[in-house]
Amino acid sequence: MTTPTTTAARNDAAVRLRTEDELRSIGSLKWTGMDASDGAPVLGAWVAEMDYGTSPEVETALTGAIRDGLLGYPPRWLEPRVQESTAAFQAHRFGWEIQPGDVRLVSSVLPALRATISHFVRLGAPVIVPTPAYMPFLTVPEVFGHPVIQVPSLRGRAAEGRGWALDLEGIRAGLERGAGLVILCNPWNPTGRVLTPAELGALGDAIADFDALVFSDEIHSPLALPGHPHTSFASLGPALAAHTVTATAAAKGWNIAGLPSAQVILPDPELRARWDAFAPEVVQGVTTLGTIATLAACDSDVEGASWQTDVRRLISDNVDLLAALFRGSPLEFTPPEGGYLAWVGYDHVALGDPPARELLDRAHIGANDGAALGTGWERWVRLNLACSPDTARRIAEGALSILPAAAVGTCA
Ligand SMILES: Cc1ncc(COP(=O)(O)O)c(C=O)c1O
Repeated sequence: MTTPTTTAARNDAAVRLRTEDELRSIGSLKWTGMDASDGAPVLGAWVAEMDYGTSPEVETALTGAIRDGLLGYPPRWLEPRVQESTAAFQAHRFGWEIQPGDVRLVSSVLPALRATISHFVRLGAPVIVPTPAYMPFLTVPEVFGHPVIQVPSLRGRAAEGRGWALDLEGIRAGLERGAGLVILCNPWNPTGRVLTPAELGALGDAIADFDALVFSDEIHSPLALPGHPHTSFASLGPALAAHTVTATAAAKGWNIAGLPSAQVILPDPELRARWDAFAPEVVQGVTTLGTIATLAACDSDVEGASWQTDVRRLISDNVDLLAALFRGSPLEFTPPEGGYLAWVGYDHVALGDPPARELLDRAHIGANDGAALGTGWERWVRLNLACSPDTARRIAEGALSILPAAAVGTCA
């Protein structure tokens, strides 16, 4: 069923970059959620939001829904529409042919992770989290009584030219210790890696001998950057799909994280039946507006809307700018292949405080502290490049400005 509010209104308007003043005046969390010790305004480069508003198609669908009074609990027609829309989007964008009936609605991705852990993982079994990792992956399992096995990822030469790679030996060792779940993040927040089919296949081989599941968080997949096609872990075949809960959403790609509505993809009939036993509990909290926005996002993308293509180009240009400005500096940085998060290392630099603290107090840039993304990453920061080119330049210059004079002297 299609209503006037959900018709994907095609609109080729370019991305409207919100100014810093606009973002501050609406109280954007990214721009107003961090305070420097001297009270100076902080440039928001932390929480995963974009300075681009949302697409014209999503805006039209949302204002239409408000005008039509579609503000109650999700109506019955929404779920089948989202199932169809998600399947069409996955096929169109990533070549993953799933059935609409493989899709389940959840309020957002983290509740899907909580449900996976509490319903599917053996009581008390450890959960493997490759690090650096999106912060909640390290804390959510513990809440349910599952110890976290952090597996620091490979980098540099060990990552064989890819910047970052999963440590399959470390993951296998965790499975041998009885882990019941591996949390995979692809595209990978915060390294920005988009894992290749070969890498995903190798992970599949590593877990094949064990009775373990994979939670594949693919929330950043719509933002896989040009030249880095996204592959779903579960798309590699029915054997892997039988052990995988895939979670995705329009929240990051269309910048609507404040309107919860996410999708879980379960092509395996047995796993799906097990999910359906508790599905009503996790569907709670799906918002009508978020789901209408998701429909508009997926449908307009399939119909060829250009907003998201423009967003990915903007992010890609910001990534190139950061790489150019960091070249020759002691900062460690591998350009992200997907998403808009940049993972930057100060390992080879002598700083008084952790780099995130120095960035906040000296450069007035709000970054995520690497310490929250896993043990051993205390001298790293996560920066957000979903901003204007000017803001990206200020972020890069700020990141360089806290380097000690001797280190700056080594820049080319
Ligand atoms: C990898 C990843 N997963 C999940 C989330 C949160 O998703 P949700 O708001 O749908 O729970 C984020 C938010 O930044 C994220 O980066």
